Amino acid sequence: MTRRGRFISLEGGEGVGKSTQVHALAAALRERGLKVVTTREPGGSEGGEAIRSLLLQGEQDRWGSRAEALLFAAARADHVDKLILPAMEAGRWVLSDRFVDSSLAYQGGAGGLGIAQVRGINAFGIEDVFPDRTLVLLHPTGAARALARDDGSSDRIGGRPAEYHRSVEEAFRTIAEQEPDRVRLTDASGTEEQVTERLLRAIEDLL
Ligand code: TYD
Repeated sequence: MTRRGRFISLEGGEGVGKSTQVHALAAALRERGLKVVTTREPGGSEGGEAIRSLLLQGEQDRWGSRAEALLFAAARADHVDKLILPAMEAGRWVLSDRFVDSSLAYQGGAGGLGIAQVRGINAFGIEDVFPDRTLVLLHPTGAARALARDDGSSDRIGGRPAEYHRSVEEAFRTIAEQEPDRVRLTDASGTEEQVTERLLRAIEDLL
């Protein structure tokens, strides 16, 4: 049987440089001869991308907190079935820009549903397909930067108040304490190359 690929997710609040690092890390892994697929949430599959527009566009009150959490979980279930599992079964590494921990931190921690309850609805959606490693990027001025550039162009969730984004970061720290083997906090300050180096070190044992 072919060795199954690994699954890595990158997480963090707004403006931490996550998307840049997904691509930099993918390039570094490809240099090591690995086959890598990059993807994102919400989205990553046709159905997931359709749900993404429902979630990120429109007024703040478009969805209540439970409906919002269920839509993220539904998008994720489709992403797992259609992209993540088939890619891993084909021996590829999957690097996802956000995954289940975003729901735990945003809808669970900041949105008031609680981390445990959001973990429950997602457990049904993803059937235990947790990443082999989750790298949470933390930048000392992360939320501040994102809010400073808020010119009305941010989406339904990115545009929420500073307090919400502070709770998101706190929830990521809590999740890392709950699951220290899977979830690693990574300093996102310094040059892009320095951050990529730190991320590589945090997955070294999986290579
Ligand atoms: P995106 O444009 O991808 O933002 P970013 O560049 O910050 O990743 O928008 C995704 C937004 O959705 C972001 O504000 C985080 C939020 N989100 C949740 O609230 N819950 C989730 O489960 C996921 C995957 C994302």
